[in-house]
Amino acid sequence: MKRSTINRAIREAMAFFAEQNFHLPPFAFFRREEWERKRVEAAEIFDLELGWDVTGFGEEEFLRTGLLLFTLRNGRAGSIRYPKPYAEKIMMVRESQVTPCHFHWRKREDIIVRAGGNLVIELHRADPERSAVVGGPFEIAVDGIRRRMNSGDRLVLTPGESVCFEPVHAHSFWGEPGSGTVMVGEVSMVNDDANDNCFPGGVIRFDPIEEDEEMEYLLAADYRRLFGGSSDA
Ligand SMILES: [Fe+2]
Repeated sequence: MKRSTINRAIREAMAFFAEQNFHLPPFAFFRREEWERKRVEAAEIFDLELGWDVTGFGEEEFLRTGLLLFTLRNGRAGSIRYPKPYAEKIMMVRESQVTPCHFHWRKREDIIVRAGGNLVIELHRADPERSAVVGGPFEIAVDGIRRRMNSGDRLVLTPGESVCFEPVHAHSFWGEPGSGTVMVGEVSMVNDDANDNCFPGGVIRFDPIEEDEEMEYLLAADYRRLFGGSSDA
């Protein structure tokens, strides 16, 4: 993924979240020099990889296959230093911009349409033990109402609605064409993107970055590379 695409996606997300009256924490706006000055005090942000995450899932066209996320809070499973067992993210999903089918072996997550357009979610039954999408019927809770669905069925969530994904729910999603960009929240158990994403399609979660221009804002993956994270915390 090109750095210029990442820079642009972050600038557009800042404008979009502001338009939706969703306020990001101050560190969303730090430049590299600010991070350098705070490299000791900001250890939690580096270690837990809070902040910007822009991915094209290894594909070429970010607006067709991709996702912009901002991790607001997180913990680390089994950590004494970071015992928080929960996480929260905010995401920007464009019309027809696909996040490919995946599930999580451990994490349960509520996906909430906070504002903007509608979110289309395609669901399949997964077998986390076999790391496979197996198909067939399943149940799922949409705002606390249990619903019976079949693999391949779609949900369309409008602002205010949410769904709870359990490990058996493989999900892909995109913004409904014509309804506008979607602001999506995620409230979940602790999030471990490096080890708890199963993409049966062989998609990659973090793209290699082609540095075609200067970085404007750092991704969480940039802190990891520049400042290192403590692995034993
Ligand atoms: Fe997910």
